[in-house]
Amino acid sequence: MKLAERISRISVSQTMAVGEAAGKLRDQGVDVVDFGPGEPDFPTPENIKNAGIEAIHSNFTKYTPVGGIRDLKKAIVEKHTRDFGSKYDVSECLVNIGGKHAIFNIFAAAIDEGDDVIIPTPYWVSFADIARFVGANPVFLHTSEADGFRLTAAMLEKAITPKTRLVVANSPNNPSGAVIDDDEFIRIAKLCKQRDIYLLDDECYAYFLYDNRKPFSIGGHPEFRSHVMVAGSLSKTYAMTGWRIGFMLAPQEIVQACLKLQSHSTSNPNSIAQKAAIEALTGPQDSVAEMLREYAKRRQFIVERLRAIPGVACAEPGGAFYAYPNISSAYRKGIKDSLDFSVKLLERQHVAVVPGEAFGTNDHVRISYATSMETIEKGVKRLHDFMTSL
Ligand SMILES: Cc1ncc(COP(=O)(O)O)c(C=O)c1O
Repeated sequence: MKLAERISRISVSQTMAVGEAAGKLRDQGVDVVDFGPGEPDFPTPENIKNAGIEAIHSNFTKYTPVGGIRDLKKAIVEKHTRDFGSKYDVSECLVNIGGKHAIFNIFAAAIDEGDDVIIPTPYWVSFADIARFVGANPVFLHTSEADGFRLTAAMLEKAITPKTRLVVANSPNNPSGAVIDDDEFIRIAKLCKQRDIYLLDDECYAYFLYDNRKPFSIGGHPEFRSHVMVAGSLSKTYAMTGWRIGFMLAPQEIVQACLKLQSHSTSNPNSIAQKAAIEALTGPQDSVAEMLREYAKRRQFIVERLRAIPGVACAEPGGAFYAYPNISSAYRKGIKDSLDFSVKLLERQHVAVVPGEAFGTNDHVRISYATSMETIEKGVKRLHDFMTSL
């Protein structure tokens, strides 16, 4: 069958491919430690679930406005103002079917074929493939592991070309957990504005910060608003990955363009999930703090244990729920690359991790600690055994 050329530019997300391989083993009854999933292991909090149930019982089950109901947009904008000091109007907000949809729409609406899109490595897989899908060139900007994979304005300045149209900032970062320093973020935004380049701020993990750091959004600095597009998500913050609610905060022209696209593709986000999202954003936030406390404990434990494995180094993940250890010492002991490492680790020790090459670096694997402490303990021990057996 002859498929469209544009679909051949992208491939199935490798994060999903590893999950499938682990799932097959599990179906055969194997005790797999799965460090693959990029989603919270907590259930959606009760108050949010109840708001969804109430929406069904009150027959809120029909089409809604394409860009989301006004009450939800208002809740998004007001929470962003409370948390980050931003000043968005509801007309600058669009509700999407997850943060990924927000990002896809932004690329589709704002990027032309042949444009350069700067993506710092390591990066979340979808940025590169979405860029390719819309015909743009992903330009990978290597961040330094010794510097904790943090993006800086100085690095960015060297990478900008006349063709650069958009820069991706994802802080805290998936997969490295790196957090861009607040002052540095401002310098990055200044540079983007000066050079008339869009800055996409993916805030999917904005609330997952450790060591008492306060969440930050460049959207809270109105002087850069003409060039900043915030992509947000309720998926991780409220353990709502399956509900599919995300949003964008962006200049009205972008919002209107994305609305047009949405009106011909997905139509409105799920009506029931929108009601649940209002409760998530306006209701009690205790569950968010509780989940964060638990992640903080796991993070400390896993980073310490990983660093204790001979031949493993691990940069400090300042946020999100991933560790991104460097396992390249195994390449001197018969392992070819990060994919080979992941495949052999799954085969021999039944531990699923995501190979770094899925994120644009080959010396690492991603370990999600959004799983129980018991599972983490078991998995890290197996990883230790694997490394020492090579
Ligand atoms: C960096 C990053 N951005 C955005 C998303 C999108 O999440 P969702 O579409 O569930 O809102 C993810 C999900 O894994 C992510 O890791």
